[in-house]
Amino acid sequence: MRTPIIAGNWKMFKTNSEARLLVTGLKEKLAAVHDVEVVVCPPFTALASVAELLKDSKIALGAPNLFWEEEGAYTGEVSPVMLRDLGCQYVIIGHSERRQYFGETDQQVNKKVKAALRHQLLPIICVGETLEQREAGETDSLVSSQVEKALTGVGAEQIPKVVIAYEPIWAIGTGRSSTGEDANKVITLIRKTIAQQYQQEIADIVRIQYGGSVKPGNIKELMEKSDIDGALVGGASLKADDFVKLVNY
Ligand code: PGA
Repeated sequence: MRTPIIAGNWKMFKTNSEARLLVTGLKEKLAAVHDVEVVVCPPFTALASVAELLKDSKIALGAPNLFWEEEGAYTGEVSPVMLRDLGCQYVIIGHSERRQYFGETDQQVNKKVKAALRHQLLPIICVGETLEQREAGETDSLVSSQVEKALTGVGAEQIPKVVIAYEPIWAIGTGRSSTGEDANKVITLIRKTIAQQYQQEIADIVRIQYGGSVKPGNIKELMEKSDIDGALVGGASLKADDFVKLVNY
């Protein structure tokens, strides 16, 4: 049985004090949560204070990105060691906004995934196609190639720790979500890709989320699908009430 995982990607929203406020509300409202793993991923500037507030709660902390070196002259970057030291358990890797606006490549995503796993951080690896790629019928080949490249050189024993987020780019922040059926098709393909790269038994353990305009109104339809194990949520994770509804789908 795969434990569902609902993660909030706060992106570049919430100052430190706003983040504290939001997480205090979430902690209170989600105190009784069970059978669902909840993760919040605030911006770097709020990680330390959110970590402090989450100490005695069941909500896990995730970072929005990382660099693959442990330390060094890399101005502006944040290392896996620093994230672990703060109490991060998860890290989002290869979000489409990083690929699109900051030129992150599949090779860099792969280096980040390996660095995260080396330091006991669980990677949430984002993959997904643009609208043009979808309309050109390239979704399946693109997504399976992104998954294969992200996992290149990762040992089979590490794979159960990996979370994949299928996020079609045309659905992110647009209010235009994929249907449960469509998302499930691609997610089934992702599982098949992992089964081919490793083994079916391993692929069956990996949790695969859907992301892209997930809201209280469509979470149920998505979570009912056979291969969808959770959601990576942007906009709706910024309001405590909405995020609580998503967790309690
Ligand atoms: P959205 O973002 O829920 O606002 O569409 C999802 C994401 O980018 O992870």
